Amino acid sequence: MKRHRSFSLPYSMVTPKSVYLSRRSLLGSLLAAPGIAASAERIENVRKSGYGKGETLTPYDAVTTYNNFYEFGTAKEDPARHARQFRTRPWTVRVEGEALKPRTFDVDEILRLAPLEERIYRLRCVEGWSMVIPWIGFPLAALLKRVEPKSSAKFVAFETLYDPKQMPRAAWAGIPLPYVEGLRIDEAMHPLTILSAGLYGEVLPNQNGAPLRLVVPWKYGFKSIKSIVRIRLVRSQPPTTWNLANPREYGFYSNVNPAVDHPRWSQKKERRIGEFFKRDTLLFNGYGNEVASLYSGMDLRKYY
Ligand code: MTE
Repeated sequence: MKRHRSFSLPYSMVTPKSVYLSRRSLLGSLLAAPGIAASAERIENVRKSGYGKGETLTPYDAVTTYNNFYEFGTAKEDPARHARQFRTRPWTVRVEGEALKPRTFDVDEILRLAPLEERIYRLRCVEGWSMVIPWIGFPLAALLKRVEPKSSAKFVAFETLYDPKQMPRAAWAGIPLPYVEGLRIDEAMHPLTILSAGLYGEVLPNQNGAPLRLVVPWKYGFKSIKSIVRIRLVRSQPPTTWNLANPREYGFYSNVNPAVDHPRWSQKKERRIGEFFKRDTLLFNGYGNEVASLYSGMDLRKYY
């Protein structure tokens, strides 16, 4: 049988960024429009975490050029092209609602609230593809605790910046904007739930949600809202963009679940970007040991 070549590489074999960037800048000077944003800064003092040890990482180029960020266009290659000029500084995040100390944080202050860690997480998109991404971030709980949530805070609502001047393609996104997402408070406080400011050792590229995005690895990718400007602790379940756009297809919980198909896409299998054969999709994206207890007693078909 013919062996199919996998394009995924272990971390150690990925071309050092400096090497291929110099190749790229050479290419860039040869080609009028290199499709990819200029190199990002490295983030120092990132401690490794145990998450995702031994997983084969999705190559940097795939992670940063195959994106969903509808504010910058609906094709996978649009965000890398059209988010290049997006301004991510100065940037503030308002954290408010059912909290004793609601306030506005500068993003750089948020990045000093907790030690930054590398977390290698699987990201499963509802469209049927998946990636393994070395995020840099810290638990969302560290930020939420700063504002001292009240016991009346049962859910957390997130909102992306919506600036039509910087996002001229947003008018054709076909979904209501600003992009909004939500989690139950225990999901938001779970140690696996992180805010990410970087990937592959560097500042997050704009197309991946700079300067700060959510990552919830046991849920479909659309829960991982990008370029956050507002976080609200709320009493009841908040609206979420894809549920507003199509409630039959997208629920609030959106836990990765091979037993519950999306009306248009089976969720039983997935294509890991860079691999030839499909793999089985795992309940809770393989994070069941950590998160299944959050849903004990719940009918996951009803709460999809
Ligand atoms: N956040 C905003 N603001 N706008 C979006 O269109 N797309 C979501 C999510 N966050 C999206 C978003 C979807 S569908 C996915 S799969 C992930 O971002 C993709 O993240 P990545 O591009 O970093 O892989």
